[in-house]
Amino acid sequence: MHASDHWDNVYRNKSFDSVSWYAPHLDESVQMIEQLCPSKTASIVDIGGGESTLVDDLLHKQYQDVSVLDISAAAIDFTRKRLGFRARQVGWHVGDVTRYDFGAQNLICGMTAPSFTS
Ligand SMILES: C[S@@+](CC[C@H](N)C(=O)[O-])C[C@H]1O[C@@H](n2cnc3c(N)ncnc32)[C@H](O)[C@@H]1O
Repeated sequence: MHASDHWDNVYRNKSFDSVSWYAPHLDESVQMIEQLCPSKTASIVDIGGGESTLVDDLLHKQYQDVSVLDISAAAIDFTRKRLGFRARQVGWHVGDVTRYDFGAQNLICGMTAPSFTS
């Protein structure tokens, strides 16, 4: 089974708040980003963002160049839908971070998922 199939299965079969890593807000991550990237124009990517609300909170803090990368298309789809019209402000990437080519995009801050278990 490919890793993407595994993660798609997780996101298709479990509700967002029933996974072991669920937190309503990733406050520590937000604080770290604010310390490391005080400029609201910094390019930030949440790697393995899944269905987390980090992207919502960064938009709320007025960050203007936020992207989310996840190996699971199901997770990206869920998060895009949750954000509604605000999803247009975000760069969405489905792929494996170990191989993903961000092209010419200059990513200043990257966040990694805290854990990779389901
Ligand atoms: C433990 S979950 C954490 C999700 C999110 N960061 C959160 O805090 O709710 C790990 C996430 O990493 C993603 N992931 C696992 N391996 C990956 C890879 N090689 N490239 C990109 N994303 C990956 C999974 O699909 C999943 O969304």
